[in-house]
Amino acid sequence: MHRVDANGAGIPALGFGTWTLEGDDAKSLVSEALASGYRHVDTAAMYGNEAAVGEGIRASGLARDEVFLTTKIWHTDLAAADLKASLQASLERLKFDQVDLALIHWPSSNGVPLAESIEALNACYAEGWAKNIGVSNFPVKLLDEAVGLSAQPLACNQVEYHPMLNQDAVHGACRRHGMAMVSYCPLFRGGDAFTAAPIAAAAEAHGKSPAQIILRWHVQQDGVVAIPRTRTPARIPENLAIFDFELSASEMAAISALTVAGSRICDFAFSPEWD
Ligand SMILES: NC(=O)c1ccc[n+]([C@@H]2O[C@H](COP(=O)([O-])OP(=O)(O)OC[C@H]3O[C@@H](n4cnc5c(N)ncnc54)[C@H](OP(=O)(O)O)[C@@H]3O)[C@@H](O)[C@H]2O)c1
Repeated sequence: MHRVDANGAGIPALGFGTWTLEGDDAKSLVSEALASGYRHVDTAAMYGNEAAVGEGIRASGLARDEVFLTTKIWHTDLAAADLKASLQASLERLKFDQVDLALIHWPSSNGVPLAESIEALNACYAEGWAKNIGVSNFPVKLLDEAVGLSAQPLACNQVEYHPMLNQDAVHGACRRHGMAMVSYCPLFRGGDAFTAAPIAAAAEAHGKSPAQIILRWHVQQDGVVAIPRTRTPARIPENLAIFDFELSASEMAAISALTVAGSRICDFAFSPEWD
């Protein structure tokens, strides 16, 4: 598996998403993912599973520095003191001294100035609590602002991305800033994408599953990382087995053309104005 050079962060191109995984399930699935070859795990304070994710990483027997671990700070905790307390609490639950990447989960919904949050995130970096810092769910204008405010280069913007959702603007901005774009909901949550004609055709042509075609489409794009989630053990190795084939330029283009308006899954009252 290749790593995406995200302002020096070196993020493994495929990670294991953990939203909705809890308790012993989360622990065993994370441990199994690492045993299968994953080296990147995505969690968040809001997921309520950091303790289990930490246990899963320890249960894998891998050294801590072999696993790229991301956590996130919820949008109501972005005042300086709250942000630092949130990340410290995450580290306590994870039982690690440092994460590889700490992200602002969503832009502030309660008026905390971006400058204050970015400065606090930089302070967390300076304390050594996060090896790299970044953001999530930032539209282009806000991303440009965040980059301008941050002393430490931002490693990524984690955003919803799948064949049904055009993210050209955000992707372009990430590349312009040397950042990775990390795709969440990369499989469109198993929705209609699996049966779309270009995906089904590529699956047939390459002897791969539709999920593998979609994940390959992600990681074959410049600077894109995907973090699919599964609670089905057999799908853990399936989702990782995407580095032994290549989609043609025309297959890539046909999948990218599946974009349809109104396909965004994660859109909430507190969401920013999207590009
Ligand atoms: N930053 C943010 O605001 C944000 C928002 C959403 C998500 N995320 C992160 O992104 C991760 C992934 O997003 P997501 O979980 O929402 O959506 P997703 O990964 O696109 O889809 C997960 C769904 O796809 C199914 N699936 C997985 N592999 C499959 C396969 N090989 N074949 C068929 N179906 C398959 C899963 O079913 P089974 O589990 O039944 O196998 C599950 O229902 C999250 O877990 C989280 O870490 C971040």
